[in-house]
Amino acid sequence: MDILEILDKKRTNQKLTKEEINYFVDGYVKGSIADYQASAMTMAICINGLKDEETIYLTDAMIRSGDIMDLSKIKGIKVDKHSTGGVSDTTSIALVPLLACEGLKVAKMSGRGLGHTGGTLDKLEVFTGIKLEQPQDKIIDIVNQVGCVILSQTANLVPADKKLYALRDVTSTVQSIPLIASSVMSKKIASNNDVIVLDIKVGEGAFMKTLEDARHLASLCITIGKAYNKKVSAVITDMNTPLGKSVGCELETNDAINLLKGQKSNLSDIVFVLFKQILKLANINCDYQAEFDRLIQSGEGLQKLKEMVVALNGSTDFFDKELKPAYVYRAKNDGYIYDIKPKELGILVNNLGGGRKNIQDTIDLSVGIRLIKQKGDKVTKGEIIAELYSIQEKDLNNTYKELDNIILLSDTKPTLAPLILDIIE
Ligand code: URA
Repeated sequence: MDILEILDKKRTNQKLTKEEINYFVDGYVKGSIADYQASAMTMAICINGLKDEETIYLTDAMIRSGDIMDLSKIKGIKVDKHSTGGVSDTTSIALVPLLACEGLKVAKMSGRGLGHTGGTLDKLEVFTGIKLEQPQDKIIDIVNQVGCVILSQTANLVPADKKLYALRDVTSTVQSIPLIASSVMSKKIASNNDVIVLDIKVGEGAFMKTLEDARHLASLCITIGKAYNKKVSAVITDMNTPLGKSVGCELETNDAINLLKGQKSNLSDIVFVLFKQILKLANINCDYQAEFDRLIQSGEGLQKLKEMVVALNGSTDFFDKELKPAYVYRAKNDGYIYDIKPKELGILVNNLGGGRKNIQDTIDLSVGIRLIKQKGDKVTKGEIIAELYSIQEKDLNNTYKELDNIILLSDTKPTLAPLILDIIE
């Protein structure tokens, strides 16, 4: 087989065979196909797309590029959730312990933040000493004992995705529905869970900009999941405004803890919908809302999160830490919060040291911005709109200027989009 012929076929929008796709993935992982050839391929896929059958072949070749987790020693229904990435989205830290309280088993592989979106692993590092890399037998022990764990992806899980994702990130080829579907589903299938619920974000702060594209991505992921006998459903959620109240690791983990203590917000609405979808697919029938509220009111969910942190060697001090803002940002006029631009807010916190531009960068976990007012809220001149945490005095003027362009006020109340746009089963 010849890579130039394969590239030529995709450039001229012809369907690739299973063997050709295997040859490409295998050659790229082993190094016989160069980065420049792989980037030509991802660009051709971005422009011409893939047929569903080709996407399934691509996912399959990616899964087989590394290890498949052997979770057979975990007793019970193994469930997983994946978000396509958003701003102020700290659902996993609250959702995972709640699922474990229901007797479901969760061995969730999460990622680091990159670009404007945050990463669950960074947010978990607020628990001093936590060890997010564990050998497979330890993962199995923790899940059997505690019910849940959130960890870094094991080194050899889908190496093809690691290489391809890094390449796509620097060649403007992230934004392709078949490439996103194969990237997400290869990792989910290699993690070997029975039930997978996807949270597909749509809007300004997300990869999918339109509802139509988000629906297409959802049904493609479900088609791939079915090919592997997995139960998959997708919740499509709005990402035109930050999901929770905060951006920044300590603040976001604090929001997840507060949710488990009973605080209601957009974030708790999404956590509930994901909880309900996962329980439904796992054939647990109950009054989902009553059960969700019970786990929170009784403190069971919070206790389970503590157990998970301790099982990973983390300190529980952060559960009692009081976070204090260094500065506040106030309304310049009377009016309504008309817009809060999620991507720009994520980038601002990143630039202040709360996120990373390159994967080697170190994050300042304490840096962050908490929104006291949300889109649609009425404000009067001088009222506090946001709190700024661990921001240095030298960055203050610029931060205020940026916030003037990120948080927009208007005389008219904006129409608020629903948070849950669709559920595809
Ligand atoms: N999340 C992933 O895991 N992969 C993508 O390609 C995009 C979002």
